[in-house]
Amino acid sequence: MSILPIVVIPDPILREPSKPVERVDDSLRKFADNMLETMYDAPGVGLAAIQVAEPIRMLTVDVSEKEEERQPQVFINPKIVQVSDTPNVYEEGCLSIPDVYAEIERPAEVTVEYLDLSGEQKTIKADGLLATVLQHEIDHLDGKLFIDYLSKLKREMVIRKFKKLAKQRAI
Ligand code: NI
Repeated sequence: MSILPIVVIPDPILREPSKPVERVDDSLRKFADNMLETMYDAPGVGLAAIQVAEPIRMLTVDVSEKEEERQPQVFINPKIVQVSDTPNVYEEGCLSIPDVYAEIERPAEVTVEYLDLSGEQKTIKADGLLATVLQHEIDHLDGKLFIDYLSKLKREMVIRKFKKLAKQRAI
């Protein structure tokens, strides 16, 4: 397994829509292991493939609280098929937007259809933190970031900060 470099804003790849996975095979399973290792190393509770510069519709998630009780989950071609009317607010962050956190409102429950690592069709009904993480990560597959839910002013402040950082790194 290896830890992959995580792409941060303003890298334009983060705005690209990801393509559906066509085949669940050993190389995809190996890539899932690398994504999980990268996510745990960061550390984060969710990672979309596009965040490691691979524009395919695949996510890794683990919302367990303790390291000893890890519950890695991999979602391939995830699709939200139902959302609840009740909203929920969580303070969100993103490995591609380090050190920025904001309270974001999303549906409290979601039903997601996806393929697992054996290529089997599955359905999960999620609530709590898992529901938020799934929505946040599925947004990544459509080139959407959590800062898109902020006011234009706040979003532009964040983007400006990261553009400045990128410029400094380039010098
Ligand atoms: Ni994110």
